[in-house]
Amino acid sequence: MIVLTDQERRDLIDLANEARGRAYAPYSHYQVGAALRTSTGRIFTGANVENAAYPTAMCAERVAVFKAVSEGERKFEVIVVVTPNGGSPCGGCRQVLAEFGLDTIVLIADGQGRLIRETTVRDLLPDAFGPSDLKFRDS
Ligand code: THU
Repeated sequence: MIVLTDQERRDLIDLANEARGRAYAPYSHYQVGAALRTSTGRIFTGANVENAAYPTAMCAERVAVFKAVSEGERKFEVIVVVTPNGGSPCGGCRQVLAEFGLDTIVLIADGQGRLIRETTVRDLLPDAFGPSDLKFRDS
């Protein structure tokens, strides 16, 4: 179980908030930033990227996860999400995070960089459907 120091929390929130400044959100104007730290200590940031074809937008958290996984990192320790109002990760992002571990710590902060909540993927997505469910076969 990972225990974060106040300094680590602060640094990750700052990185996520910086990433939030790079959000491309001309439609919702709801800018989101994320910072994901992996077990090797690498940090991947993400920002939401919207599109004129609305449903093709991508959330900040998933950008960070996909960056990490595509760079060979699959073990996550902590993800920080910064939203304007401290809003929490959407269901799709919870599911994507659950794929790589329910113990990942989730920090939610607001646009002022205030920590609003510290939780885990397990708590955000009870009864998660995950990789082990696909080990079951009918016949
Ligand atoms: N958004 C995120 O980036 N992460 C979330 O967990 C919630 C929603 C983005 C998607 C869209 O660009 C905007 O916020 C409004 O929904």
